[in-house]
Amino acid sequence: MFDLNVKEAIYTWYQKNGRHDLPWRQSDDAYKIYLSEIMLQQTQVKTVQERFYFPFLERFPTLQSVAEAPLDDILKMWEGLGYYTRAKNLHHTAITCEGVLPKTPEALSGLKGIGKSTANAICAFAHHQALPILDANVKRILCRYFALHVKIENVLWEKAWELLNEKHPYEHNQAMMDIGATLCTPKNPNCLACPLAFSCKGKSAPQNYPMPLKKAKIPTKKRFALIIEKEGKLGLIQRTERLLHGLWGFIQSEECPKHAKSLGKVSHTYSHFKLELEAIIITCEDLHAKVDGYFTNEQIAKLALSTVDKKILALPTMMRNVALTS
Ligand code: ADE
Repeated sequence: MFDLNVKEAIYTWYQKNGRHDLPWRQSDDAYKIYLSEIMLQQTQVKTVQERFYFPFLERFPTLQSVAEAPLDDILKMWEGLGYYTRAKNLHHTAITCEGVLPKTPEALSGLKGIGKSTANAICAFAHHQALPILDANVKRILCRYFALHVKIENVLWEKAWELLNEKHPYEHNQAMMDIGATLCTPKNPNCLACPLAFSCKGKSAPQNYPMPLKKAKIPTKKRFALIIEKEGKLGLIQRTERLLHGLWGFIQSEECPKHAKSLGKVSHTYSHFKLELEAIIITCEDLHAKVDGYFTNEQIAKLALSTVDKKILALPTMMRNVALTS
């Protein structure tokens, strides 16, 4: 039999131990909550809180201001946060809903970049609607609490609904986030401090729920970044591929062109592969045709660049070999 007291225990725990200071918990503005949920999808709380949330809101205080801005400006504010599809979807959604987010989970989850859990989070946090969330942390808690070895989406949704405190959906969902982040962690969970522990079926062996899967090793891609210089300016392209769409950067090549001089290597790990880039200075004129634009130092600072391209710009050999006009 399901223990109803656990809902009460989670609620009480949140009142006392919740992370009430998080900035997106100080507002009931659906846009500010939506923005936080999107930023937090693939980025840690600390990074979002300390580096990205406030500057973005300062530049774009309303969803209407996002809708009115060019995508390049959104990407510039997203620079360094990664997973740039999030920024493109945010822009698309702002335009689609003309700066005003709908208030139902059905309408929200029809918008680009908003899945069922994010739609529920926005409705629960901005409008106190009785809807559960189901992100990675909540999934882990549910697997342990109900002793589920495998993560099956509709089973987990059923359990999330079962556990939801319908009287206090805001506090319940925020508490689940906090418990997942601070107590029911992947490694070394702190069951002694957990409000769910008294009726948790997985407590004696939390590491078994869900059953750990062997992580596939991600491949390494080796490429060359072509440093093309003309009259004190650098030749860059604006990327069109999905991963870094819209960002500016150096042309990449799988082969090393002739007459090239190496400036050193940089690497960056994405979710599905590791990229190792060797920066090489190119003198061959043919490649100039592939460039989308030439930029001075000052102009480059205003463009949105990916982290790996910034790492190349920061190579000490770059400064020694390329004299850019400012
Ligand atoms: N991750 C996603 N949403 C969150 C929230 N509201 N608080 C803390 N972490 C989160």
